[in-house]
Amino acid sequence: PQSPTNQLIKLHQDATKLYSHILMNTEMGQPALDYLHQRGLTDQTISDYGLGYAPSKQLLKPFFETRKIDYQTLRHSGLFIENQDGELRDRFVDRIMYPIRNQSGQEIAFSGRMLKQMPDQPKYLNSPETELFNKRKVLFNFDLARGAVRKQGNLILFEGFMDVMSAHQSGVDNGVASMGTSLTEEQIYAIQRITKQVYVCYDGDTPGQKATQRALSILRDNSSLTLGVIQMPEGMDPDEYRQKYGEAKLASALESARETPVAFEMRYLKTQYDVDTDTGRLQYLNDILAILATVKSPVEQDVYLTQLADSFQLDKSSLRQQLAMVKPAKQ
Ligand code: CTP
Ligand code: MN
Ligand code: MN
Ligand code: MN
Ligand code: MN
Repeated sequence: PQSPTNQLIKLHQDATKLYSHILMNTEMGQPALDYLHQRGLTDQTISDYGLGYAPSKQLLKPFFETRKIDYQTLRHSGLFIENQDGELRDRFVDRIMYPIRNQSGQEIAFSGRMLKQMPDQPKYLNSPETELFNKRKVLFNFDLARGAVRKQGNLILFEGFMDVMSAHQSGVDNGVASMGTSLTEEQIYAIQRITKQVYVCYDGDTPGQKATQRALSILRDNSSLTLGVIQMPEGMDPDEYRQKYGEAKLASALESARETPVAFEMRYLKTQYDVDTDTGRLQYLNDILAILATVKSPVEQDVYLTQLADSFQLDKSSLRQQLAMVKPAKQ
């Protein structure tokens, strides 16, 4: 007989196949398939990621019951919601299903995206924590990205599932996403085992920029990775970029829109302080110098000191003196 873990994995594999069948081959799945096509995803991408559709009626419950899967296995799978009487019903209803795989490529959880905007409903609904699924440890697409990351020597960290899939459809396979939460030590550990360099490519909106700053600081504090930022145009995420400009343009933007963390912070922090006032300007300079103090290359430091001196009409040597007194942002 199978171990409980293997049973749960088998359950997720079967559910993935079933959701995918519903999406690709049934009338029930047609609106969801149309939606994905409208967003410009190809059937190849849909199949590469095993996307599916959970219909608006109960699907998994009758399916697994006729297959005599025992109640406790179903209960522990995270695929069901239990009412007060211990009755189970499908957790995912009327959602596009994204299977989440572990590092060995086995399905261990799902995220379900709603089809239309519904009030009081989250856009994405994830499986709860289960024996298989520890959200802190998982990076979406890590299993598929690993080879490309090793080959290219760097990894791109995206915000969302769609961004990872858009990059993949554009021939960029070294992308992963942390699932709507800030990076954990476990995720950083996994990344460090396969590369020395990470580019953060979050959404070009305000939350995305804020999250970029937080990710850089978490990565700085918890790793020795070389960091960079890939900047999306204002308000756009990588998937929207692909929808607007196409795959080739996204692929080249992911190459060409790269900047150093300091360049990012210099631009971002300018939007956070009123640099037209003395106080704002000083706070800005303090923050930048603290980040600059973490930069090891004297030449790189010098480049930014020159920029700062120029843009604020300051004496470079006083900036340098100040820098020598600053405690680095790291450690
Ligand atoms: N997320 C989540 N729960 C939500 C909203 C977001 O788990 N209610 C996570 C998802 O992993 C999502 C990521 O945060 O992919 C980024 O959120 P957002 O930018 O809002 O969504 P998109 O990825 O752009 O989603 P879509 O393009 O499908 O609208
Ligand atoms: Mn269609
Ligand atoms: Mn976002
Ligand atoms: Mn987004
Ligand atoms: Mn998006």
